[in-house]
Amino acid sequence: MLRDKAMRSLPFLLVLVVSAPVWAHDFLGSESCQACHPDAWAAWQATSHARSRDVLSAQQQKDMRCLSCHSPNQVDQKVAHVACETCHGGGQFYSLNYVMKDADLARLTGLVDPGEKSCRACHDGSSPSIKPFDFAAKLKAIDHWTVERNKKKEKAALAPTVPLAPSSPAAPAVVAVTKPTKLQQP
Ligand code: HEC
Ligand code: HEC
Ligand code: HEC
Ligand code: HEC
Repeated sequence: MLRDKAMRSLPFLLVLVVSAPVWAHDFLGSESCQACHPDAWAAWQATSHARSRDVLSAQQQKDMRCLSCHSPNQVDQKVAHVACETCHGGGQFYSLNYVMKDADLARLTGLVDPGEKSCRACHDGSSPSIKPFDFAAKLKAIDHWTVERNKKKEKAALAPTVPLAPSSPAAPAVVAVTKPTKLQQP
């Protein structure tokens, strides 16, 4: 199992070794996530995180004192606003399909699970809100994972539980598998 995983990640590790001097999780931009996570992207678009730089004046958009919360990755990574990767980490290494499907490998290669602490890096005493930051309520307000998890469940439910008989290549991808029927002799 472990060995299996190591073998599968081998090409990946080689890439890491070769690019060791630039080992920093570079950002690809939220649109690169949108390609595979359209629903999470749409939910994020509906939050003010997706436009957080736009509330700043032209002058303020050059001021690191404002950008540090309103667009923290714009200068070094050229990615504006509070983007997917601001919270989940730069996607350069984890956003390949085969890496993403392996939750452990994705985390080994930079995927971050943001929690209350990461919110408080910006939602703290120096942000303009008068009310204290209510984590549970604010988390709910940016929910883009329920849709993702439901989709994952649906996918799992649709997957055939019994492999199709090799003699039925034209069978539809999704079938209600009951018990195997007898093959007719030609
Ligand atoms: C090539 C397609 C692809 C791209 C691009 C991609 N993802 Fe994923 N991502 C997946 C797949 C597949 C899964 C596994 C979930 C599943 O099976 O439905 C996943 C899972 C995740 C998970 C959940 C990990 C877990 O298992 O707990 C997060 C978080 C995530 N992606 C964030 C991102 C972010 C942020 C980006 C952009 C930087 C991104 N993804 C880009 C395909 C992709
Ligand atoms: C410590 C992080 C942080 C810094 C630094 C920061 N902001 Fe904010 N800002 C926030 C947060 C968080 C909110 C949202 C507060 C809320 O509504 O609860 C916000 C809201 C705002 C809003 C209101 C946006 C709206 O939708 O009504 C404006 C305008 C704004 N900030 C301007 C600035 C300017 C200008 C600077 C630099 C002088 C700055 N901010 C620096 C975190 C920060
Ligand atoms: C402000 C921070 C923040 C931003 C911005 C953000 N996320 Fe998330 N994301 C989270 C948090 C927090 C969770 C987990 C919530 C939980 O488990 O309660 C999460 C969960 C997810 C999950 C589900 C993971 C799982 O375990 O199933 C996916 C997929 C995901 N995010 C993708 C994205 C994509 C794609 C974007 C950009 C379009 C994005 N996120 C932007 C904070 C963020
Ligand atoms: C990099 C800084 C940053 C991080 C990290 C961050 N936010 Fe924000 N958030 C902002 C800024 C800036 C705004 C205000 C945007 C605007 O109004 O234009 C904001 C606005 C919001 C809003 C809408 C305004 C409000 O206060 O009701 C919610 C909800 C929110 N954030 C939740 C979260 C949660 C939950 C997390 C952690 C999972 C988080 N944020 C992490 C910077 C951040």
